[in-house]
Amino acid sequence: MTASPRRYHITTFGCQMNKADSERMAGILETMGFQSVEEPNDADLILYNTCTIRDNAEQKVYSYLGRQARRKQENPDLTLVVAGCVAQQEGESLLRRVPELDLVMGPQHANQLEDLLEQVFSGNQVVATDPIHIVEDITKPRRDSKVTAWVNVIYGCNERCTYCVVPSVRGVEQSRTPEAIRAEIEALGRQGYKEITLLGQNIDAYGRDLPGTTSEGRHLNTFTDLLYVVHDVPGIDRIRFATSHPRYFTERLIRACAELPKVCEHFHIPFQSGDNDVLKAMARGYTHDRYRRIIETIREYMPDASISADAIVGFPGETETQFENTLKLVADIGFDLVNTAAYSPRPGTPAAVWESQLSEEVKADRLQRLNRLVSVTASERSQRYAGRVEEILVEDQNSKDPTQVMGRTRGNRLTFFAGEINELRGKRVKVKITEVRPFSLTGQPLVEARL
Ligand code: SAH
Ligand code: SF4
Ligand code: F3S
Repeated sequence: MTASPRRYHITTFGCQMNKADSERMAGILETMGFQSVEEPNDADLILYNTCTIRDNAEQKVYSYLGRQARRKQENPDLTLVVAGCVAQQEGESLLRRVPELDLVMGPQHANQLEDLLEQVFSGNQVVATDPIHIVEDITKPRRDSKVTAWVNVIYGCNERCTYCVVPSVRGVEQSRTPEAIRAEIEALGRQGYKEITLLGQNIDAYGRDLPGTTSEGRHLNTFTDLLYVVHDVPGIDRIRFATSHPRYFTERLIRACAELPKVCEHFHIPFQSGDNDVLKAMARGYTHDRYRRIIETIREYMPDASISADAIVGFPGETETQFENTLKLVADIGFDLVNTAAYSPRPGTPAAVWESQLSEEVKADRLQRLNRLVSVTASERSQRYAGRVEEILVEDQNSKDPTQVMGRTRGNRLTFFAGEINELRGKRVKVKITEVRPFSLTGQPLVEARL
């Protein structure tokens, strides 16, 4: 039915979980004989791996889809797949909206892509959005980087933050076993990968659903335990993880990070708001004081640690004073990076139907004020790197300047320096920082100190 060799294109929207899922789906397509193409218009199969965290993310998907649906009217052999969180949220109704679609598949079905496509190729329009137990993946992902790799440790989320669509689209928490996780990382080490990022929407929940609970209800398989299990994998130099939830973040985890040399001194801990009443309305389960104490403790153990976070402005009912508490928290902590967003009402979430919604103008104004402050604090935080020697793990060429390579500090600051990518990819290089910008650095390599 389809000409050979068949070509596929994947566009990925949204978070790191989607990126990791896309890499696994690309791996499945390649074992099925498909070849990757950059340009969607050259592809026989197009897969959009979608995000619905905010309305604008969802709308972007529809505009991409509209274009390909029109193309399919002229080219009926084109296979159109929508995966990810919009697929899960909309299910069958996506087929009514875009009848040209061949396959609508939720995130839990990513590993089943081959079976689902076989149904499509035998003439069916397929919707796969039933909640399922995620089967361990046996396919080799086609990873975008040769140096850094995502490793899922827990899927789904059992929290019920009142603004958030993730639990309804990603399902309940499902932890992978420590053995499966370690085996994946060992394979990565053998293939020459140097850095891994352990992934979960709420990584502190890792292991809650695994056997290993003692009679007092204490878990043996916590995320901290997992760090010890994976720490000594040969070949891997750096370990990162995301996302941490302030409600469950423990001092034991901080101690482990300080003690384990491969774990980088970078913590991504979203606070969402600096106001206790807003935090309560969001059902986040912590106060701004608790958040501040976590950061203080991290800095006691690791004074130079980088801290990044996510924040939402314009949550329903947020007053000017409550918003100012968010500004105050940002000013006090000194974040290296904050991902900010204006609140967006999401289908099926409690806060979406509250009457206290704020106007788009108020939200846009607060977002702008917060962003200004974030770039000021980020730029102050960058100053600490000036003149310092940092260990940079080289990932790639600088796409804007081929005479330079790019990599990251242990604290996750993007860094550029002069060098030849084929010689340096995957190497850790000592670099003296000569230029600092709010979110990136430039430096000079100390050639004698390459690891
Ligand atoms: N699991 C992570 C975040 C997942 S979603 C956590 O608990 O923090 C990524 C970010 O998107 C969130 O941290 C939040 O800042 C933002 N976000 C989620 N829902 C949103 C909404 N309805 N409107 C605006 N931003 C939202
Ligand atoms: Fe969403 Fe809250 Fe779960 Fe994060 S912890 S994914 S914000 S429900
Ligand atoms: Fe978006 Fe789904 Fe991630 S909604 S942020 S892609 S979990």
